Amino acid sequence: MARPEPSSDASDFAVDARGRPAIRRYSSNERSTHWLTALCFIALALSGLALFHPALFWLTALFGGGPWTRILHPFVGVLMFVLFMALVVRFARHNHLDANDRRWLAQPGDVLRNREERLPPVGRYNAGQKLLFWALLVAMGVMLLTGLAIWRAYFSAWFPVSLVRLASLLHAFFAFLMIVAIVVHVYAAIWIKGSIRAMTLGSVSYAWARRHHAAWYGEVVERERRADKHGNAGAPPARGAP
Ligand code: HEM
Repeated sequence: MARPEPSSDASDFAVDARGRPAIRRYSSNERSTHWLTALCFIALALSGLALFHPALFWLTALFGGGPWTRILHPFVGVLMFVLFMALVVRFARHNHLDANDRRWLAQPGDVLRNREERLPPVGRYNAGQKLLFWALLVAMGVMLLTGLAIWRAYFSAWFPVSLVRLASLLHAFFAFLMIVAIVVHVYAAIWIKGSIRAMTLGSVSYAWARRHHAAWYGEVVERERRADKHGNAGAPPARGAP
């Protein structure tokens, strides 16, 4: 049976697969853009490693051989940049650091030991997610610019050879940083139980939101209260799902 979608793009209210009330976190558009970005990233990491070192050349078999890997890699890179920028347009406003985020960052011991009750209330994203977001944006920009400079088929001839050499060094260095950043991103998504569901089904439970993003939970509940007062039909029948 098909899983129910979060109720509408304009509302926080959703129901989970068992019909329990939940909070909508991502629209289907946002989720498909995210997963296409992730697919591009995996293809780029594998094809990039294949081109980086002869010991990994065997990975080119995944892309139809050496020449195809070399042709496809930069096009997929441009596609990932465009998809990622679509995510940036949607999420940038939720990733501004505030005073609570600075306090959160000053308590790494409590963050790593999962003592969330000692941390300041977290908004839609925690400070770690926000820093990762901006780090990815910088890395993406550097990857695009250096990638264009070393794209022999179209652009390399426009630049002096010393610049092309520097660009290929930076391209490899920032690719390494991005791989590390995404490993951290995936680890955090698995570590915080209930997060993957946000990006697969689009909704989270009220308990997840209250525990990990208390300030965001407060905003959602306040919107729900106001919508209830105005007889909004999008609101769920009851709150308090696990
Ligand atoms: C490959 C496996 C990946 C997994 C399992 C994964 C998982 C997730 C999950 C579960 C969330 C929701 C977190 C939340 O709502 O609190 C998320 C958000 C996000 N992901 Fe991924 N992701 C992956 C790859 C990527 C890649 C490759 C990128 C970009 C290069 C990316 C960029 C983002 C962004 C921008 C957000 C929104 C967070 C924010 O705005 O701070 N993800 N991801």
